Amino acid sequence: MPMKVCKAVFPAAGLGTRFLPATKAQPKEMLPIVDKPIIQYGVEEALAAGCDQIIIVTGRGKQSIEDHFDVSYELEKMLEERKKTDLLKIVHSISDMIHMAYVRQKEALGLGHAVLMARELVGQEAFAVLLADDIIDAQEPCLKQMMRVFEETQCSVIATQVVEGPAISAYGVLDVKPADGRFDGRLFEINSMVEKPKPEDAPSNLAIIGRYILTPRVFEILASTPHGSGGELQLTDGLMALLREQRIYAYVYEGRRYDAGDKLGFLKATVELALKREELGDKFREYLKGLKL
Ligand code: UTP
Repeated sequence: MPMKVCKAVFPAAGLGTRFLPATKAQPKEMLPIVDKPIIQYGVEEALAAGCDQIIIVTGRGKQSIEDHFDVSYELEKMLEERKKTDLLKIVHSISDMIHMAYVRQKEALGLGHAVLMARELVGQEAFAVLLADDIIDAQEPCLKQMMRVFEETQCSVIATQVVEGPAISAYGVLDVKPADGRFDGRLFEINSMVEKPKPEDAPSNLAIIGRYILTPRVFEILASTPHGSGGELQLTDGLMALLREQRIYAYVYEGRRYDAGDKLGFLKATVELALKREELGDKFREYLKGLKL
């Protein structure tokens, strides 16, 4: 029986230091882009890709994420009484977002460690990992594109994007070989990867971005990988070890990504996604045109 991916893990226990002071008392994942918190974009993508269980790895001060996806009786009752049916529908649809589970990462010991926290909830199944910071606007949701690759290959898949110039140093970077032009030449087989290399040491211009489909073997590997400097366990270290045992594919997704965990990326996402909104786009475009830039 081919494996199917039903569970999506959202590591959301990071400290969000790039967004201080906004993230001092509220999680970065709850900052709104237009009118939805960052993490809701990712959860909607996972649902659209066919996942029916969402696992969020949270940490201290992240209670509002759980509240957001929970039923809000008082709010729903008030909207019902005031006959605000449109708003009621919106609020209801959030808490209806299927099965949500939460697990704590007690200390922010790195992305690999955060993923490992989901081990018991995921079990022996292939699963998706989405970093909510990366908001991807695409005709076919990015994770759904990756699901097609997984269904055909039954191997782990990492989403990748071409990043030109010195900016590549901010990413994990892939050393790859083409996978015979499959998936319109978007598929590559990974030879190796390196975390945040100097531009001159980058093995390619293919950067790892925040979408992964992984086989459950990665949990055993992460559990036995020593933590690196600063006590952190990086996902890349686990993936390097997985690569010694299993094939991993890189897939150049189609779509536009915003790094909403970064101030400039957050602003770009806000402007571009607002322009695309039916009820806002025209008025917002008019406003922007009137600015003296
Ligand atoms: P980032 O590198 O963006 O770190 O983490 P961060 O702490 O969220 O933000 P900055 O850089 O300090 O501003 C990538 C993803 O991994 C999660 C984060 O929540 C984010 O989704 N993460 C990171 C954890 O869940 N636990 C960790 O220990 C580290």
